[in-house]
Amino acid sequence: MSDKHTDAHRWWRDAVIYQVYVRSFLDSTGDGIGDLAGVRAGLPYLRKLGVDGIWLSPFYPSPQHDHGYDVADYCDVDPVFGDLAEFDRLTAAAHRLGIKVLLDIVPNHSSLQHPWFQEALASPAGSAARARFHFADGRGPDGAEPPNNWHSMFGGPAWSRVTEPDGTPGQWYLHMFTPEQPDWNWRNPAVGTEFERVLRFWLDRDVDGFRIDVAAGLFKHPALPDSPDPEADARTRDSVNPLAWNQPEVHDVWRRWRAVCEEYTARDGRERLLVGEVSVPSAREQAKYVRPDELHQAFFFDLLSAAWDADSFRKVISEAMQDIAGTGSTVTWVLNNHDQVRTVTRYGEPTPEGSGLGPARARAAALLMLALPGAAYIYQGEELGLPEVIDLPDDVLTDPIFRRTGKRARIRDGCRVPLPWSGQASPFGFTSGVEGTKPWLPQPDWFAEHATDRALADTRSFWHLYRDSLHLRALLPQLGEGTLRWLETEPDVLAFVRGDGLVCAVNFGTTPTTAPVSGVPLLASAPCPDGVLPGSTAAWWVAHDTGL
Ligand code: GLC
Repeated sequence: MSDKHTDAHRWWRDAVIYQVYVRSFLDSTGDGIGDLAGVRAGLPYLRKLGVDGIWLSPFYPSPQHDHGYDVADYCDVDPVFGDLAEFDRLTAAAHRLGIKVLLDIVPNHSSLQHPWFQEALASPAGSAARARFHFADGRGPDGAEPPNNWHSMFGGPAWSRVTEPDGTPGQWYLHMFTPEQPDWNWRNPAVGTEFERVLRFWLDRDVDGFRIDVAAGLFKHPALPDSPDPEADARTRDSVNPLAWNQPEVHDVWRRWRAVCEEYTARDGRERLLVGEVSVPSAREQAKYVRPDELHQAFFFDLLSAAWDADSFRKVISEAMQDIAGTGSTVTWVLNNHDQVRTVTRYGEPTPEGSGLGPARARAAALLMLALPGAAYIYQGEELGLPEVIDLPDDVLTDPIFRRTGKRARIRDGCRVPLPWSGQASPFGFTSGVEGTKPWLPQPDWFAEHATDRALADTRSFWHLYRDSLHLRALLPQLGEGTLRWLETEPDVLAFVRGDGLVCAVNFGTTPTTAPVSGVPLLASAPCPDGVLPGSTAAWWVAHDTGL
């Protein structure tokens, strides 16, 4: 929708990308699992919403131990989701509608079923096949202890022991996530070469770029020493072990990938996007990943994790503008994704229906995010104001974190429940299956209130707020790329000016306050009487005549 931009080649700099969690978007085959043909069927809906592109969660052949983030073949489609011909149809259809297509590429680890890992298992210690992964002898008597004390992000040790081809207990391999996700050894040049082949395979199929999983990973400290705080990763669920993440060598990989993208751009002038999931301790560290010859963008998760108060939001936004935008890249804002509790629930009281302040704050946060300079990502269902499903029974939970933490942590299934499209009862139009086909995760009855058919018919819905803000973003020259200037406000309020007099203000408190601009706003997350900004509300005004 970036019609206003003259430099269409740099489309990504203020693009709004919609994250499609394929298995939960729309099921065209009636097996209760979403698929690529379902995504194609949903494109007109996304076009109407006004997004610039889609990011498809992994659909590659995979035993699905971590919903496709365990990849057995990087250059194919799992039959559950379709095939390469369907992928080509989807990409072509998206492009016809002016929607870019980003793939999710997973270079930190593969799957136990990847042929190279199978080859490594069948080969002896010290072989070239093992050198593509991190195989090491154990410590202690008979090598029965892991090679170091690192913990997996998802709980438990980061090493598993293999049985050697002769049937004896053998070496250990490293997996920073589940044991079914062995980490690649990026110090072996064969790994880098293989991934360049994978990039080209998909670029030749006309994709517009890649979301890069675990982009601060890849390289580990070469000596794989013990960590002073071995459980830190599992405890924080952030990649904080400084020996396992954020090693300087990783930047060479992004330079090489950027060069591959530039090659394609040189052919047709169209920029291909690399956006990284870069979990590092600070905006300043993150800025290193988006230097002009590295990734184009990196998700800025500090906005997502900021507490709901004006000071926290102002601090993280200021840091992003200073450190990340300072590199010449644009900040990539995000409030929701498939790993996080949805905003409606996160910002509110945890009732099953997500009632209370959550929905009002989530609406306000959306208007704030979409007014900030840079790009933004929306996670499917965010535009419907879907709350987290917090009361899924234990026996349906599939997130490996649940299993690996001894059923202590329930985190990611609740935001992955299949979307409600229509009707009063599950499957809410999600699956075309015969009556009785169940979506892969159960949908609660109250999903009816959030179904897209209802949302489209109700002008007060989240859907209309997102649609209106995306359409205004495409039209108003002040929005998208650019700078921001803070305005003096009352303590609970954040207000800033974009370009020529576009003002966005958010009242983080619960009581009404004076709006920074008089007049009725252009767009607001809740009704705003003249000159008033109600609590838990955001609004946009165009204020040419105020000298702002
Ligand atoms: C990323 C993905 C997450 C996945 C993990 C391991 O954090 O977003 O879903 O489980 O990487 O690949």
